[in-house]
Amino acid sequence: MGWLAVTFYTAALILLFLPLRASQDRLVPGKPLSPGATIVSDDGSFALGFFNLSNLSGTPNRLYLGIWYNDIPELTVVWVANRETPATVGLSSAPSLFLTNTSNLVLSDGDNSSVLWTTGLDTATSSSQTTAVLLSTGNLVIQSLNGTMLWQSFDHMTDTFLPAMKIRIKYGASANGDRLVSWKGPEDPSSGPFSYGGDPNTLLQIFLWNGTRPVARTATWTGYMVKSERRYQQDTTGAAIIVYLSVVDGDEEIYVTYAVSDDAPHTRYVVTYSGDYHLQSWSNSSSVWLVLAKWPSPECYRYGYCGPYGYCDVAVQTCKCLDGFDPASMEEWNQGRFSAGCRRKEPLHGCVDGFLPLQGMKTPDGFALFGGDKGTLEECASECGRNCSCMAYAYANLGGDKSGGNVSRCLVWMGELVDTAKIGEELGSDTLYLRLAGLDMAAGNRRKMSAVKIVLLVLGCGVLVLICISLAWLKFKGKDGKWRRHKKMRLDGVSTMNDLGEEKLPYDHEFPFVRLEEIVLATQNFSEICMIGQGGFGKVYKGHLAGQEVAIKRLSRDSQQGTK
Ligand SMILES: *[C@@H]1O[C@H](CO)[C@@H](O)[C@H](O)[C@H]1NC(C)=O
Ligand SMILES: *[C@@H]1O[C@H](CO)[C@@H](O)[C@H](O)[C@H]1NC(C)=O
Ligand SMILES: *[C@@H]1O[C@H](CO)[C@@H](O)[C@H](O)[C@H]1NC(C)=O
Ligand SMILES: *[C@@H]1O[C@H](CO)[C@@H](O)[C@H](O)[C@H]1NC(C)=O
Ligand SMILES: *[C@@H]1O[C@H](CO)[C@@H](O)[C@H](O)[C@H]1NC(C)=O
Ligand SMILES: *[C@@H]1O[C@H](CO)[C@@H](O)[C@H](O)[C@H]1NC(C)=O
Ligand SMILES: *[C@@H]1O[C@H](CO)[C@@H](O)[C@H](O)[C@H]1NC(C)=O
Ligand SMILES: *[C@@H]1O[C@H](CO)[C@@H](O)[C@H](O)[C@H]1NC(C)=O
Ligand SMILES: *[C@@H]1O[C@H](CO)[C@@H](O)[C@H](O)[C@H]1NC(C)=O
Repeated sequence: MGWLAVTFYTAALILLFLPLRASQDRLVPGKPLSPGATIVSDDGSFALGFFNLSNLSGTPNRLYLGIWYNDIPELTVVWVANRETPATVGLSSAPSLFLTNTSNLVLSDGDNSSVLWTTGLDTATSSSQTTAVLLSTGNLVIQSLNGTMLWQSFDHMTDTFLPAMKIRIKYGASANGDRLVSWKGPEDPSSGPFSYGGDPNTLLQIFLWNGTRPVARTATWTGYMVKSERRYQQDTTGAAIIVYLSVVDGDEEIYVTYAVSDDAPHTRYVVTYSGDYHLQSWSNSSSVWLVLAKWPSPECYRYGYCGPYGYCDVAVQTCKCLDGFDPASMEEWNQGRFSAGCRRKEPLHGCVDGFLPLQGMKTPDGFALFGGDKGTLEECASECGRNCSCMAYAYANLGGDKSGGNVSRCLVWMGELVDTAKIGEELGSDTLYLRLAGLDMAAGNRRKMSAVKIVLLVLGCGVLVLICISLAWLKFKGKDGKWRRHKKMRLDGVSTMNDLGEEKLPYDHEFPFVRLEEIVLATQNFSEICMIGQGGFGKVYKGHLAGQEVAIKRLSRDSQQGTK
C-alpha cells in the first residue's frame, strides 16, 4: 500500500512538474513577466528577469530587464534589454514584459503609458502562438509555432560574448558588424566608451576601441576560415578549460564564434567598464570570476604604443625598433616613452632598395589589400617594389582552407608602419617584408660582414651586371627573341615574375631579366641627372638596381649601329 502510494505520488509529481517546468523557460502572449519573477533556462544556468544595481537605500531604484547566470551566487548580468532606458520604480506601478500577438517583446512601464524597450519586429501576420524561450546558452529567442526563429538576444549583444554567440564582422551588404559595448560603470549598464568588434575598413582584424580611438588590434587574419584551440588552467587542481575559437567566412556573413570544452565552468568574454577585454571563468571553489586572459597585454601591445616603425616584442614585453631603424629620440626611449617611434638608420635610395623578411610578426595596421585572391608572392613583391611609397608587404597563400583551396592574400603598406608586434607562432603571425636601404639589407642578413667586404661585393656585383648586360646585348643581337624565355629574376632573395608568361624557369645568372618599369625608376625616367655618358648606340645612365649601382645603356632612335 505504502509502496503504491509512493509510486502514485511520484507519478503525480512528474505529471505536475513536467508542464510546469516546461513553461518556466518561456513567455507566452497574455502572461506578462513582472519584477520578482524570472524565466529560467531548461538546464537552470541562466535566468531572465528584472534586476536593480543601486545599492543606496533612499535613491530611486532603476530597474533593468536582463539575463544573468542563475546558478552562481554573484549577480553577473550577460545581457540587458533596456540599458539606456531603465524603469524607475515608483510607489504605484511596476514595469512588465509581455509578448504581443504580433510576436514582439515589449517592456512597458507600470501603467502601459510608455514603451521602454521593444524587439520592434515588423511582422505582417499576427499570431498568438509565438513564444519567447530562454535557451540554456543564455539566448532569448522568439520563435513561431513551427520553430522558426524570429528574433534572438544573441543578435543584440551588450558587453558579453558567450559561447555559441556570433560577433559578425560583416553580414549581407553591410560592413557594420556587431560590437560589444562596455557598461559605463559597475552600477550603470548604459553604453560606456569601450567597444569591441570587426574593423569595418578591412574586415580582416578586430579592434578594441575607446570611443573612436583604437586601444588594441588583433593580428590580421587571412580572411578565410580560422580555427584555434587554446588551453587555460583555472588553478592547479581544476581541469583545463579549452576555448575553441573560429572565424567563419560564410556566403552571407563573416563572424567570430567560440565554444568551450564540455566540463568547463561558466566562461565568458567581456569588455569591462575600465576598458579591457577579458576572458573570465567562474571558480566554484573560491566563488569569484577568474581572469584567464586579458587584452591588451603586455602593455606594449596597446595600439601604437611603440610608435611608427617600432614594434612590441611580446616575448620580452618591450618596444624595439624594426631592423634598420633606431629610436627617434634615444633619451625618451630610454625613459620608457616609445610613442615617437623609430627612424631609418639610412635613408632609402629612391626606389631601388630590397626587402628584408621579418618572421613571426603581427603585421602593421593601415594596409591595403592588393589584387584579387589569385596572386602569387612574386606579384605581391613586385607590386610593392615598384611603388616607392610602399614600405612593406605581406603575403599568405591559403591553400586548402576554402573551396578550391587556391586563394592568396597580398597586403601592402604605403607610408608609416604602426602597431607592429613580434608574436612568434601565435594565431595570425605573418612574415613582413620590410623595405630597407641596400646596406641595411646586407647588414640585416649578415651582420658579421665587414664594411670592406660589402664595398667589394657591391663593386664586384656592379662589374658582373655590366658584363652580363654586355653579354646579353651580344646574344640579343644574335638571337632575337631569346629574351622572352627568361622571365624570372631575383632581387635580393625576392623573386619577381614578370607578367609576360606563367612558366617558371630557374634563375639565370647569365641573363637577368629586368622590367622596363624598374629601369625607368632606377634612372628616374632616363633623367639627364642620371646620364653619365653618350656613345654610338645611345645614352648611358647611372642607376640603382637591387641595391647595386649599375650602368644602363639606352638605344637611341637615331643610332645607326643597333636595331631599335
Ligand atoms: C533591488 O535589489 C535588491 C537586492 O540587490 C533587492 O533587495 C530589492 O528588492 C530590489 N529592488 C527592487 C525594486 O526590485
Ligand atoms: C553594495 O555596496 C557595497 C559597499 O559599497 C559593495 O561592496 C557591494 O558590492 C555593492 N553591491 C552591489 C550589488 O553593487
Ligand atoms: C492583438 O492585440 C491587439 C491589442 O493589443 C488587439 O486589438 C488585436 O485585436 C489583437 N489581434 C489578434 C489577432 O488577436
Ligand atoms: C499593458 O498592455 C498589455 C498588452 O496590451 C496587457 O497584456 C497588460 O495587461 C497591460 N498592463 C496594464 C497594467 O494595463
Ligand atoms: C513557419 O511559420 C512562419 C510564420 O509564422 C512562416 O513564415 C514559415 O514559412 C514557417 N516555416 C516552416 C518551415 O513551415
Ligand atoms: C579613453 O579616452 C578618454 C578620452 O577620450 C581618456 O580620457 C581615457 O583615459 C581613455 N581611457 C583609456 C582606458 O584608454
Ligand atoms: C559547482 O558547485 C555546485 C554547487 O556548489 C555544484 O552543483 C556544481 O556541480 C559545481 N560545478 C563544478 C563544475 O564543479
Ligand atoms: C593557384 O593559382 C595560381 C594563380 O592563378 C596558379 O598559377 C596556380 O597554378 C594555382 N595552383 C593550383 C594548385 O591550382
Ligand atoms: C603608389 O601608391 C600610392 C598610394 O596607393 C599612389 O597614390 C601612387 O600613385 C602610387 N605610385 C605609383 C608610382 O604607382
